Amino acid sequence: MITYVYPTVAETSRSLIRHLIALMAAAPDRIFHIAFSGGNTPSLMFDLWAREFCDVTPWSRMRIYWVDERCVPAESPESNYGTMCRLLLDKVAIPDEYIFPINGDNRPEDEAVRYSRLVCRNVPHDGTLPAFDVVLLGIGEDGHTSSIFPGQERLLSSSCPYELSVNPYNGSKRIAMTGCLLFNAHRLIFLVTGSSKSEVMRDVLAGEDVGPAAYVAHHAKRVEIFMDELAKPQLGGPEVKV
Ligand code: 6PG
Repeated sequence: MITYVYPTVAETSRSLIRHLIALMAAAPDRIFHIAFSGGNTPSLMFDLWAREFCDVTPWSRMRIYWVDERCVPAESPESNYGTMCRLLLDKVAIPDEYIFPINGDNRPEDEAVRYSRLVCRNVPHDGTLPAFDVVLLGIGEDGHTSSIFPGQERLLSSSCPYELSVNPYNGSKRIAMTGCLLFNAHRLIFLVTGSSKSEVMRDVLAGEDVGPAAYVAHHAKRVEIFMDELAKPQLGGPEVKV
């Protein structure tokens, strides 16, 4: 696990964008299959990407997927796909056929199957499963990631690439990438910012498998964490080196 810490959310976001562009520049003949998380954290990154890095990104060599999605229409402000389109994808030259949204309007159980099959068809395999080049993850204050909430750890060992999950706080349904794809990805990158995440980052960085995000961070093949100073665990607890 490699951790990068920056003074501000904007610098953390810019550094992550530069990192992704550099990864793609290092393999100029390859197509990159990247799965994005939603929630609030990546919104600034999407906005900065559209405004400052649009012309230096190899959009035609990217295939865009989602880690998770709320079961809502794309027009809903809750939609991860809708948010990324509004902030980034509608503003850059990436063909629609390179964008693979989870359909929040579909019957959730059917969509989990449909999207699992779509990813299995489109993302190159490593072994018997698709292997994303990059999976971008966030971390909730409760330690969830990929809409896998505490208490739903069975999704970490599911053999179904995507499954239905439920937000335990409001009962809303979500489609979530499960452990079989998370642990088969070539690279997992967590983007974590803000003081509200400093407690959960203690679990992630201190090595305890407490909650889904910490477990994923400790057991995935290759993990990088991009965080700002505010998300760094505060003093008063086991020394956490970052
Ligand atoms: C979602 C996200 C989710 C997110 C964490 C962090 O659909 O909500 O994909 O997994 O990464 O909940 O969310 P924030 O960035 O809003 O704190």
